[in-house]
Amino acid sequence: MIRRPDAAAITEAVRRLRNGELVAFPTETVYGLGGNALYASAVQRIFTTKGRPNTNPLIVHVADVAAARSLVRDWPPTADVLAARWWPGPLALILPKAPHIPDAVTAGGDTVAIRIPRHPVALALLEAVGLLLAAPSANRSMAVSPTTAAHVAESFGDELLVLDGGATEVGIESTVLDLSVRPARVLRHGMLGVEALSELIGRIDEGAGTADEREAMPAPGMMARHYAPRAAVSLVATEEVAPTIARLRAAGERVGAIVWNASATQATHQTVLPATPDGYAHGLYAALHDADSARCDAFVIERVPDDPAWTAIHDRLTRAAHPA
Ligand code: TXA
Ligand code: MG
Repeated sequence: MIRRPDAAAITEAVRRLRNGELVAFPTETVYGLGGNALYASAVQRIFTTKGRPNTNPLIVHVADVAAARSLVRDWPPTADVLAARWWPGPLALILPKAPHIPDAVTAGGDTVAIRIPRHPVALALLEAVGLLLAAPSANRSMAVSPTTAAHVAESFGDELLVLDGGATEVGIESTVLDLSVRPARVLRHGMLGVEALSELIGRIDEGAGTADEREAMPAPGMMARHYAPRAAVSLVATEEVAPTIARLRAAGERVGAIVWNASATQATHQTVLPATPDGYAHGLYAALHDADSARCDAFVIERVPDDPAWTAIHDRLTRAAHPA
């Protein structure tokens, strides 16, 4: 059930988490599906609930830097610099894991992903519960991440307690930065861009992909599709938006469109997102969820500018558009 995050709701969330159950909570990026990271059966429940392969490790959410340090064997100076500037915030750091972190959290790997979220409700929950919370995005595996409490409830039904913190501010998932390798590597782009991070710690390499993507390499393309709505997505240049929609409509399809620059279209269901990266990211997943709710058969998305400020958005759109 969706609840306003008042004191009674936080108390109920704490009771459930201490009991090994899951609770969904808002972060500044997307909603998370949280469970006690040090309790193996709660972690297992996260994988089962999401339908997530247990080869795909989870991010551990903590309330402060001291808790983060307790999870790792080595805390490099770069972690200090990044944490001081960007935590709480939309940045997950990967570091060599301490022995007491359950294998289930890290998918058997030697590193653990950690972040301090910036949302007041997430922080209030972490403080109150006094546990480390493993929390992936609160959607079924491969589907679009939730940016509202209603999105979470649509995926998981009424049993799950969802703390309602409103629409999330950033709108797409955190930047995942691997500090266990040198130079550091961005494994998942986020709205916190590589340039801002490398100003603080120097050279950062790109493109290795997160653990689930690397795992999927032997079967090419598996994780290339992700963040995807049910309808087939075409990602097209501005001047191709109108003709593509016209062609699909002529074929009798219900067409959803997401544009930011193209003029009004003949789509069945159209969302115009802001022409700024921050505004666009904030609205993107709600637009994808909406078009799914509107039962569109096909989806036409206008390409975004080829500019570093749009890199994370371009990444999500490319994955959403990857053929199933
Ligand atoms: O913004 C976010 O990060 C949200 C909110 C809820 O905090 N969480 C989130 O979690 O997006 P999830 O599980 O949906 O995505 C985490 C990504 C996955 O691609 C996973 O493979 C990768 O981080 N990851 C986690 N631990 C890793 C590790 N030790 N090594 C490499 N990749 C890792
Ligand atoms: Mg996810």
